[in-house]
This record gives sequence, structure tokens and C-alpha cells, in this order.
Amino acid sequence: MPITVSPDLAFHLRTRSTSYVLKVFPSGLVAHVYWGTRLDDPDLTPLVRLVQRDRPTWEGGGLADDFVGALDAMPQEYPTRGTGDFRPPAIEVTWADGSSVCDLRYSSQRIVSGTVPLPGLPGVSSEERDGTETLELTLADPQGLEVVVRYGVHPDHDALTRSVTVVNRSGQPVGLDRVLSVSVDLYGGDFDELHLSGSWGRERHPVRTPLRMGGHTVESTRGLSSHQHNPFVALLRPGTSEDQGDVFGFNLVYSGNFLIQTEADQHGWTRACLGIHPTGFRWVLDSGQSFQAPQTVLVRSSQGLGGLSRTFHRLYRERLVRGPWKDRVRPILINNWEATYFDFDADRIEAIAQAAAPLGIELFVLDDGWFGRRDRDNSSLGDWVPDRRKLPGGLEDLVSRVNRTGLQFGLWFEPEMVSPDSDLYRAHPDWCLHVPGRHRTEIRNQLVLDLTRPEVRQAVVDQMCAVLDSAPIAYVKWDMNRPLTEVGSASLPPARQGEVSHRYVLGVYEMMETLTSRYPQVLFEGCSSGGARFDPGILHYMPQIWTSDDTDAVERLKIQWGTSLVYPPSTMGAHVAACPSHQTGRTTSLEFRGHVALAGAFGYELDATRFTEEERALVRAQVDLVKACRHLVLHGDFYRLQSPFEGNLVSWMIVAPDRSEALLTWIRVRAEANPGPYRARCAGLDLAAVYEVSGPGGTERICGEVLVHGGLRVPPLWGDFASVLWKLVRVRD
Ligand code: GLA
Repeated sequence: MPITVSPDLAFHLRTRSTSYVLKVFPSGLVAHVYWGTRLDDPDLTPLVRLVQRDRPTWEGGGLADDFVGALDAMPQEYPTRGTGDFRPPAIEVTWADGSSVCDLRYSSQRIVSGTVPLPGLPGVSSEERDGTETLELTLADPQGLEVVVRYGVHPDHDALTRSVTVVNRSGQPVGLDRVLSVSVDLYGGDFDELHLSGSWGRERHPVRTPLRMGGHTVESTRGLSSHQHNPFVALLRPGTSEDQGDVFGFNLVYSGNFLIQTEADQHGWTRACLGIHPTGFRWVLDSGQSFQAPQTVLVRSSQGLGGLSRTFHRLYRERLVRGPWKDRVRPILINNWEATYFDFDADRIEAIAQAAAPLGIELFVLDDGWFGRRDRDNSSLGDWVPDRRKLPGGLEDLVSRVNRTGLQFGLWFEPEMVSPDSDLYRAHPDWCLHVPGRHRTEIRNQLVLDLTRPEVRQAVVDQMCAVLDSAPIAYVKWDMNRPLTEVGSASLPPARQGEVSHRYVLGVYEMMETLTSRYPQVLFEGCSSGGARFDPGILHYMPQIWTSDDTDAVERLKIQWGTSLVYPPSTMGAHVAACPSHQTGRTTSLEFRGHVALAGAFGYELDATRFTEEERALVRAQVDLVKACRHLVLHGDFYRLQSPFEGNLVSWMIVAPDRSEALLTWIRVRAEANPGPYRARCAGLDLAAVYEVSGPGGTERICGEVLVHGGLRVPPLWGDFASVLWKLVRVRD
């Protein structure tokens, strides 16, 4: 039983290795008691005693009025504002009388098997019979506001989810100013905080800092989850490393504005809370209505960051990503963006496909510039009609020409945008996000469609369906290339303008749900100026996301490493691009670029007509290698071994879940004179088994324990950006 409840209302949520305990005190306040190693003793009383203070107490039927600090010292499950907890609250409201005190006490509980879908929002969900259970704890304020705090317990996947539904039964509208999805008070005031930050072309670099009193914030107010911060944070106990130690990870399943606050308090507890960003947010909740906050995934590992990541990866591969592509190896694609930018026509595209097909590449993706009159980035978004100047036979003709070469065909869209120079904008100037009387800020010469409006969503979906129905299109790249500004909607009244940014995200999700369920066989890849919206919300609809516009393989080492903290390799679009790199001017070998891209959803981003004969042979071999390994990328466990943030040597390993085969990648970024023989250490293998190891030195048989504790000898290397790849197959148990 993953959820048990004692007669005095102590709740014990258990996954394979973790226990999470909360307790309803007689006052009705709900305390956070414990989150850590799984406990099997059913008696929770000694544990609950750990969080009780000697004087005065909150458990004896109410807070003592003479000690203001009482509530402020209590570890809570869903803290409010205005009654004595001065740490960051989970919820802030404005009542009809203008006051904002909120006091949530236990009202009822319900335990259901499986997960409870969140209306209109993505999330991790269970499959029948996997043992998942959900606890719904209803808390109520005397003025008539109910908050259902929902815990999903996924025992096999070793993870919890939390979310919140707010229900207004007060008889009057209530302003919701802040509704976070989760708040947890962890015992200990000396955590390190780790989050993923960056910029365009430099996404998701891990940043680790000691957390002490004085809060820390990770956030996006850009309307999308952003290049700058990812909706993820981990709290690490002192001494936690890649391989060992206690770590608590939080990932918000949301693609819009988010806030993560972490802070050590005066009594040696640390509060972590996250959810939709309150800045710019105000939801008017009418009486009788409810508001659903997004889901947060909570993973705790005693095996360091590596253990944390593998738990997130498996959960996301199996319970977040959906549809036929969840378990299907991804086609090797070739995308024309860096090959042609906007400068192409049907003949040039066909020539690239013709050059790519004999190499074993499987899918051609036509990127930006095929519609309207889009010769550069200043027009035509919103007019999803093929440009007959470039494609005289239309898409149907181009797709059949590409298909005749043996490749499938994929297409780029940027559905959420409109160019001021477009027929759509000329016909509907009020269909973009804007505030009347104010300038409309253009970024990349474009405006954002007001996707809070059903008629706008419908118009875009109709256009996309017309294109997708016009030819056999096997893949869609869904791009989103600017943040939101002047966030206002012509269709909402003044009091509801604070709802626009969240309603925008809901609108995007609805469109994604409509299109991905209407075209289940189409492989959708998310994108946002590279990786500005690489989050679990998008992964619920699209099994892979373009990781970064930076395709330089050396830069990608860091980007993919950081992304892998939370997201599995199979979700990361990773392409071999031409050299010198368009982002950095660096030249690396084809082999090196291939080894780096192999740790993701593999593709090419170059002009295949320009390959030399020698390069064609190399690419043919590379494609064969990818085809032999991609099932491992799809299902395997990822081990980070040597970090690009810590030194010149980088390595990682992907191991089949049953440990029967593996792939080890080892990289030396910069040449070194007179190095000793390097060793490549393995991880995750069956220690007692013998593996056949194939690599640059040929094939040999080595025992798992030698590979893990001793390692492999790296052959002599020459020059910068050297890489070695070994394939390991278990030959004897
Ligand atoms: C974004 C994407 C790129 C490419 C361009 C096209 O920047 O990240 O991959 O599709 O748009 O305009």
C-alpha cells in the first residue's frame, strides 16, 4: 500500500526507496514531518514527535497567542499568509472585502487508486496496475475557500507528484494572487541548491550554491520556461556528489512563468516552494469555480545526482511522454536550417534529400521559410500557406519528390506567432497579445498570438491541419521564438487581465493536445529559439525537444550534460552540424560531432550535397552506428562520469535497463602533451558478468567489475576534440 493513514491522521506515502510523512494536528494544521529513506515501521508517533515544539504548541488545539513565532517555526505542507508564518507562503488571496488573511485547516481526505488527471494541464500519469495511488487532502478556510492538496505516489518509479486545486465556496469572487503547486519544509539548514541556468545558445548549465538564511529565487517571467532558468531545483545535503548523498529534486510540469523559492529559516529548516509565478498573475475565482495549479514532480535520491537523474529519466520516459513515439526509436533526420537558412527552393531541397538518402538518413525536415513570402524573419508568420515562388508545385509536390528519394518528410511551424507583415495580422490586428493604447513590442519582428481566445487557436489549428492533410508529413518541429510582452487580451475584461499569461499556456497546451491526438503517427519536436522551453510540460505532448541552437559539439557537451540532470537523452534533439560551427567558428571532426550527438535524438543540420567522398563514407558508418545504438538512447540508463564543467576529460555511459549492453563515450576536449595512459571508467554494469568490448583497439572480453573498478585503457590520442566510443555487450552472466 503506497499510502497509509493512521487513526490520528498521520499520512505515510511510500515509494520504492522513500517515505514522505505528513500529519494533521488537532488544530487542523497540516505539518510536514519527514521526507527521506523509506521507513517500514508503521508507528509514526516518534517521528511526529520530532517536529513538535515543547512550548507553546500548535498541536494542542490551536496556536498559542502569546508566541507569535509558533507557526513560523512549524514545518508546513501548504503555508498561508497572514496568520503568523512569515516565510514564503504557498497561497495568497484577496477576499471581496480587500483583506488577505488565509487560514487553511484540514477538512477531509480521499485516497484513490491511480492518478487524477489535471484538467487542461500536462502531468505524469499512471498506467493501470502499476500501484500508483493519489491522496487528496482538502483544507478549508472558514470564509469558504477550499484547497485540495493532491499527492500522487508512484511506488515503482520512486517518485511523488503534487498539485493543488482551489475551490471557491465563499459566495463571492476571490482574487488568487499566488497559488503555488508545492511547498516543502525540509529538516536541515545547510543544503546546497542546484538549478539550471543559461542563455540562448548556452542553456541549462548547472549552478550549485550553498543555501543559507536569505532566500534564493529561480524564475521566469518571460511567458515561457526560458533559456535563463529551467523550472527545476535540487536541494543537496552536505557532501552530496554525482554518485552519493541525499538529494531532493523538484520539477514543475509547466511551460510558462514560474517561481522557485528556496530559503533556510531561523530554526534550521529549509523551505522549497514552486509554482506559477505570482508576478503578473491574478486569477479571479468566481464562487462555485475552481482553479487548477500545475503538477510538480518530486524525486528524492540517496544515490547523488546520478540516482536523481535516472529516476527522473525513467519516470519521464514511461509516465510523462505519451503516444506511439514513446517506445519507438527516432528517425535519423536531416534539417536544412543551417544548410540554407531562408535561401532554398524545391530543387535545392530535393538535392539535399537525394544526397542524404544513400547515407541511410531517414527523414528530411524543411525548416523556416516555406510559407507566405518569408525570405527573412520579418514576415508571414500566421500565413501557413506554401510559398509558390520557392515551391512551385506546392508542398504535395515537394513531399513526393523527397519521399521518392526514400526519405520521409517533416515540416517547421511557429504556430503561436504572427508577423505584422502577414495576411493574418492585416485581417485580425487584435488577435495578438497587446494592451490598447500601448506600443506592441516586436521581438524577432513578430508578435505573439492571443491564444487565450478559442477562435484564434481554432484558426491556427485549422491552417495546420490543412497543411498536414495536404501531404504525408511525418514530423513537425513546433517552434516558439520570443518571450511575451504587453501581456493583455482584447477578449478578457479588465479584472481578468492578470489571467492572460496562464490562459496563454493553457491555450498552447490545448492546441498541442488537439494536434498530437489528431496526428498520433506524426513525430512532434518542441523548440523555442533552441531550448527556451525544454520542460516537462512540453514533453507530455512531444517526445523530443530541440536542445539548443548551439550545435557546436564542444558547447553541446555542457548543454547536454546540464539538461541530463532532469531530462532523458531520448528527449534531446542533437544534430551533427557543419564546420566551422555557425555559433562559435570552431572546427571539430565529423566523428567527434557524431559521438556527442549520439547521446540524444540524432540528426544532421547541414548541406549533405557538400560532403566529400571521404565524408560520405564516414557519415554512412556513423548512421549505421546510430541505428545499432539508438534503442539504448531510447530506453537506457544514463551515467554521467566525468563532467565538462570540471575538467578537460568528459565521459558518460548509457546502459540497457537489464545491463546486457552499454555505450561508453570518452572525450578529451583539448590536446595535452605527454599524457599518461588515460583510463575510461564504466558504471552501471553487471559486476559479475563478462562483456565483449568493441572500440578503437578491436574487441576484447572483460569482466564487469574490472570495467567499473579499473576501467578501460584509452588509446593514444592526437589533437584537440578527440573522442572514443566503446560498445559493450554482455556475453556471460
Ligand atoms: C529557431 C530555432 C531554429 C530554427 C529557427 C528558424 O531559432 O531554434 O532551430 O528553426 O528558429 O527561424
